[in-house]
Amino acid sequence: MRCSLRVREAASPAHTDAVTFSIGQYGLAAPVVLAPMAGVTNAPFRALCRRFAPGLVYVNEMVMATPVVHGNAKTHSMITFGDDEHPRSLQLYGSDPQIMGEAVHLLCDAGRVDHIDLNFGCPAAKVTRRGGGAAVPARPELLRAVLRSAISAAAPYGVPVTAKFRMGLFDDWLTHLRTGEVCAEEGVASVAMHARTVEQHYSGEARWEAIGELKEHLTDLGSTIPVLGNGDVWEAHDAVRMMEQTGCDGVVIGRGCLGRPWLFGDLIDALNGREVRPSRRLGEVLEVMVDHARMLVEHLGENHAMRDFRKHTGWYMSGYPVGPEVRRRFSMTATLGELEDIVADVLDAVGPDTSIVEGGERIKRGHTNGPTKVALPDGWLDGQTRDSLATDVAVPDDGHVLAMSGG
Ligand SMILES: Cc1cc2nc3c(=O)[nH]c(=O)nc-3n(C[C@H](O)[C@H](O)[C@H](O)COP(=O)(O)O)c2cc1C
Repeated sequence: MRCSLRVREAASPAHTDAVTFSIGQYGLAAPVVLAPMAGVTNAPFRALCRRFAPGLVYVNEMVMATPVVHGNAKTHSMITFGDDEHPRSLQLYGSDPQIMGEAVHLLCDAGRVDHIDLNFGCPAAKVTRRGGGAAVPARPELLRAVLRSAISAAAPYGVPVTAKFRMGLFDDWLTHLRTGEVCAEEGVASVAMHARTVEQHYSGEARWEAIGELKEHLTDLGSTIPVLGNGDVWEAHDAVRMMEQTGCDGVVIGRGCLGRPWLFGDLIDALNGREVRPSRRLGEVLEVMVDHARMLVEHLGENHAMRDFRKHTGWYMSGYPVGPEVRRRFSMTATLGELEDIVADVLDAVGPDTSIVEGGERIKRGHTNGPTKVALPDGWLDGQTRDSLATDVAVPDDGHVLAMSGG
């Protein structure tokens, strides 16, 4: 027996919801944005999410500004959008203002993007050690230079630029308020903050109170720039709670949608005051999973796609009592046919009506690592203060940054 492969869930009635939130000129069905996730938020994944919730902003995985400028074929192949995708949203990583400006100009001039998000939150040691990623906000004037360059390159094309960052390096070096301030001064369309420090990495709980501080700080300064909160929204009601507790304008969803692309439909319902569907039964989850694999195969070819898809099987199955042997088989799948065979075996063994275990939605997946020691270039913080107006814009070397998880 093979399971039916069509996703049966009706698209959320997002199109009937009033637009209450905008990023730049783009009105959204709800104040919800898909977090850029390296190796995950490619065109097939975003297309799948959009089925459940059209009308939101879904950010492509991060690409680096330098290879964009150098015409690197692999980097350019990662900048792929669906024919019906709008806005086409891309996250760029870079800490050299000039290169960032050139990359933004190239992408906008070629008409390839509608929205650009800048990554200032990458905590990877090999990035921060060179002063890039999440180390940039510790140098507010470098941050300003990168923002200014990107925003002025995008402005003639009407492409809004947003920024995503963390709370700071560690608890003694929080930079979120100053970062928000610089972003607002330079004219970003919205800011998103992952409420953890670099030191925390992905450990512990996201500290939503810092999101509230950022919103309050910008409001006190007279800025109306939307503040999006990010971190540990696993279920739709978490988003409602985050917005109530912090006063933030919207949410950015990362790991909560891994293996749960329908979360976006649930979020639109919850944030528009409608009842949220109960957790999905195993049969429905498996249908979506196989459909996702098919889309990825079409996008990447079977060999590459099925290797890449193995991690997704673990995420789809998290919380469902299918047993370790099934998980092991899924984690070794090499072809779509094999995946479908395992799915058929699972359905025969436990049945499509199997429910998720209590609390299964909140099982942490994707990254969970940390805390970590913060690696910085020698003297990076010397002479700086947390409220520094330092003018040092020495440009870090982005050359060694490989494709990685950037936030
Ligand atoms: C697999 C993975 C890849 C990620 N890649 C990026 C990235 O490229 N850029 C970025 O800004 N954040 C990246 N992040 C961080 C997320 O965007 C998000 O800030 C973080 O996961 C916290 O939100 P969450 O608790 O909703 O997952 C990544 C996270 C994961 C799990």
